[in-house]
Amino acid sequence: MLNVVQARELIPFMDIAYQGFGENMDSDAYAIRKAVDMGLPLFVSNSFSKNLSLYGERVGGLSVVCPTVDETERVFGQLNATVRRIYSSPPSHGGRVVDIVMNDEALHKQWVGEVYAMRDRIKAMRLQLRSVLEAKIPNRNFDYITRQNGMFSFTGLTPEQVERLQSEFGIYMVSNSRMCVAGLNTSNIDYVANAMADVLKD
Ligand SMILES: Cc1ncc(COP(=O)(O)O)c(C=O)c1O
Repeated sequence: MLNVVQARELIPFMDIAYQGFGENMDSDAYAIRKAVDMGLPLFVSNSFSKNLSLYGERVGGLSVVCPTVDETERVFGQLNATVRRIYSSPPSHGGRVVDIVMNDEALHKQWVGEVYAMRDRIKAMRLQLRSVLEAKIPNRNFDYITRQNGMFSFTGLTPEQVERLQSEFGIYMVSNSRMCVAGLNTSNIDYVANAMADVLKD
């Protein structure tokens, strides 16, 4: 994929909003490191909304990797002018929280451990959801539930099935069937899995 980007002289924009929820902090950034190693110019946006639970603080970053110092300076000038025109000065509270956590060894270690606990909890919910669905509808393949990673999943439900989940069972997801797997827990997983099986069977 990156070879195609390179051959066509494209500039990729890579977005990493769930670092740590896939495999681990390091390997989740594999594609970005690979692009940088290949010498590609690129934009990278990252977010701390999910992995530091700072949704309400709007904390993230835009990094631009440029091939030369000259280009870096020109891009920086453009970004400065753009920032000045749009928001001028960002809210600082969330950014300071991130700064403290990232630059303190003990806090950083604790944060990584907590992200991995969330990752493992979500993976456990995926397994349980898959096993209930497979038990109830044995002729259908649900391995995509455990093959997908992170907080969200496409469930493959039709908009009508999503609507039934909402009206008959009080379970909500967006109409394209993307569900928030992080919303599942040991108290609601069986209810949700059985409701999904019900609407999928009919
Ligand atoms: C892939 C992806 N990128 C970016 C965002 C938004 O991040 P932020 O909350 O930092 O705007 C989201 C979800 O909210 C997302 O799913």
